[in-house]
Order: sequence, then C-alpha cells, then structure tokens
Amino acid sequence: MLVKMDEILIKARREKYGVIAVSCFSLELIKAAINAAEKKRSPVILNINLKYDFVSEEEDVELFLYMARERARRSSVPVAVNLDHGQDYRTIMRAISHGFTSVMIDASAKSYHENIAITKEVVHTAHAAGLPVEAELGCVGMADETFRLENKYTKSAKTDPALVKDFIEKTNVDFLAVSIGNAHGPYAKNITPHIDFELLTEIAEITPVPLVLHGGSGTGDDNLSKACKMGISKINVGTDLMEAAICKANAGYQENQNKGRINFLTNYVTGYQESIEYYMEVFGSDGKA
Ligand code: 13P
Repeated sequence: MLVKMDEILIKARREKYGVIAVSCFSLELIKAAINAAEKKRSPVILNINLKYDFVSEEEDVELFLYMARERARRSSVPVAVNLDHGQDYRTIMRAISHGFTSVMIDASAKSYHENIAITKEVVHTAHAAGLPVEAELGCVGMADETFRLENKYTKSAKTDPALVKDFIEKTNVDFLAVSIGNAHGPYAKNITPHIDFELLTEIAEITPVPLVLHGGSGTGDDNLSKACKMGISKINVGTDLMEAAICKANAGYQENQNKGRINFLTNYVTGYQESIEYYMEVFGSDGKA
C-alpha cells in the first residue's frame, strides 16, 4: 500500500526499530525494494533523487514516479515514495507535482538561519499539499576524503543539540536528519565510522519527531542496530546495496559467461534485494508491516 512517510516512521519511533530508505535509481530497484519488503513483511521507503540523469527528463520523471506509486499501491506492505536530497524550492515543487508522498529539503550546507528560512518555506508548501517533510541539521558529508579534497562535497559537521528544539519549532519539520559521525558513500578500506551515541542520546531525548540517519552504508551492523534502538527511525542506504548487487552480477558472469551476460541485470537486482532484506533484519523492521 502506498502511504506517507509519517505513517511508517511514527510507528517505527514508538516501537524503536528502523526502516530502510532504499536508493532507487531505476524501476528494477523499486521492484527489489518492494519484493524485499514483502518477503520480510517490513515497511520500506523508496528514496528517489531527482538530481541524477536517469530521471532528469520531465517525461521520464513522470513515468518513473507513476510506476513507483503504482507498484507501491499494489504492494501488501506500507511503501512511501520519498524525494531524497531536494536541493531547492523548485525541486520540491516538481516532486509535489509528480506525486511523491514526502519530500526532503537539504539546506544543511547553508547557514543555520538560511537552513531555517528555506526549510520553513518548503514545509509551508508541502504541508498545504498534505506531504510531510524531512530536513537536515548539521551536515552529513562524504566518507571518502578524496571527494572532499576535490571540493565537490561539503565537510561533515555534527548536529548541535542546542539548536535542535529551536530548528524544529521554527520550521515545523516532520523528520530530522542528524549528523552524528555518519557520512555518505564508501569509507576508506577497513574504516568503520565512530558513531557519537552520546550525542544521539542527547538529541533523541529532546526531539519530538522521528530521526533519520543518512549514509547507512559501511556504518557497521552493531552501530546501526544500536542507533535504531536509540531513536533513529529511518536509515538511508545506497552504496552497500550497489556493492552487493555488483558482486552478485559479477559472480554470475564469472561462473558462466554466457548465462551471466544474459542474467546480469537479474542477478544485479537479486543482489540488491538480498542486501535490503539483510538490512531489514539489522534494523529490526522485519515482521513490522
Ligand atoms: P550511502 O550510499 O552511504 O548508504 O548513503 C545513502 C544516502 O544517505 C542517500 O541519501
């Protein structure tokens, strides 16, 4: 069933488990996410980012979103269709018109006051359209240092707990993404991030809305499972799913080149799905649909 993200996350927050928000770059990956959710009887969030080329044409976006919503509607478990990392007001308006069931505005790289102003405007419009909004306080940067050195991405800055209440009150946002030692993308080899659980405890105690963790990949199962029990209700995962999918597709090809070639996409999607199922167990959302 197609639902709004608050329906999924308010229950998750109350019952102290996390729900995976799956990076979905194609229709096949939407299928992988929903199949995994149905198999595990878990809610799931389809995270779609309008920045990427594959959905940059307006007609493609329309068709892609139509398929995502339709597939969600026919599902036997709760599925939300969320705009990931909306960069500006125009993108949010596009997302609303294309039928997303929630939006994220990411003004985390801007100053605190600009972040409040942009988020507030987005919340006003999205709420008028009946959609809940996620925003980010502090800044979750890239895990890989080389991206930062190229100046392509902003540096991480931890969420300041002293600003949390003020930010939520001033913006009226529905979900809060926090920066507690997490980062996007792959980490350097053998590095597991240090998650600041003291900071999470402090933030969770004063936050009246569900909390979100971006950059779930490479964070470590124990860290993720603990974070869910301590108040993180939504975890965004992309990189690890892609890695698992590539491994599965490559293994199929190495085993039998002819069949592997033909089944490459199927194997990729199966790898994606298996990794999503795995994370549903780590986050404790299996059986919660
Ligand atoms: P990872 O690719 O690091 O899992 O991050 C995904 C994400 O946070 C999407 O918003």
